[in-house]
Amino acid sequence: MLTVYDYSMAKILGESEIDGFLVGDSLGMNVLGFPSTLQVTMDHMVHHTRAVVRASPRQLVVVDMPFMSYEPSNEVAVKNAGILASEGADAVKLEGGVEVYDRVANIVKFGVPVMGHIGLTPQRYLTLGGYRTVKDESKLISDALALEEAGVFSIVIENVYAEIARKITERVSVPTICIGAGPYCDGQVLVIHDLLGMGDIQPYFSRKYLDLKTEIREAVKRYVDDVRTGKFPGKENYKSRES
Ligand code: KIV
Repeated sequence: MLTVYDYSMAKILGESEIDGFLVGDSLGMNVLGFPSTLQVTMDHMVHHTRAVVRASPRQLVVVDMPFMSYEPSNEVAVKNAGILASEGADAVKLEGGVEVYDRVANIVKFGVPVMGHIGLTPQRYLTLGGYRTVKDESKLISDALALEEAGVFSIVIENVYAEIARKITERVSVPTICIGAGPYCDGQVLVIHDLLGMGDIQPYFSRKYLDLKTEIREAVKRYVDDVRTGKFPGKENYKSRES
């Protein structure tokens, strides 16, 4: 699984063998320049969901429910999950374990599949004391079991010890999708900006498959040089009455 935030990337990745897209609220930092995911709103998520869905990808499109779009009440959660589904999300993802049991159960009851997200839950970084590895094994297992019982079809496990992610994967019947939680899960998810080398920070648990930031800088430098030295536009780039 990979995060995807816009039409052109959804078109390119849509041709790949990736199984699932996540319109992640990490778009707040990666696309909108926010300091965290707490500034991301339902309007942002709807805007980016529409862009991804317009590419008609064959992949499952999971959309993050942003901060405070599900916490206040079951009614608010169901309403906002419904909005994302009606914009083309195949499923929604929300953060938390035991404490979101009712939210998950209600959203699923009214027809929208839910992916859980436990471990490091970035929307709670203030109360977690930062973006830390979550180590409380018994709480993580209780959270995973609660989510399974509430009806999630899959669980993202973020930034926990690999051995704990393995235990959770063995205990639950739904697929676990990991990020920074080791190899013993059913699947992996990465942020596309990290994979392409476009992010501001490169987390230790991601892998840069391309250094796109450097490639972009070099391409733009070549363009600027070509314009300044008269090499662009070339004859093939414009029409002239004489040709
Ligand atoms: O928003 C996001 O990118 C995520 C992934 C880290 C799983 O939730």
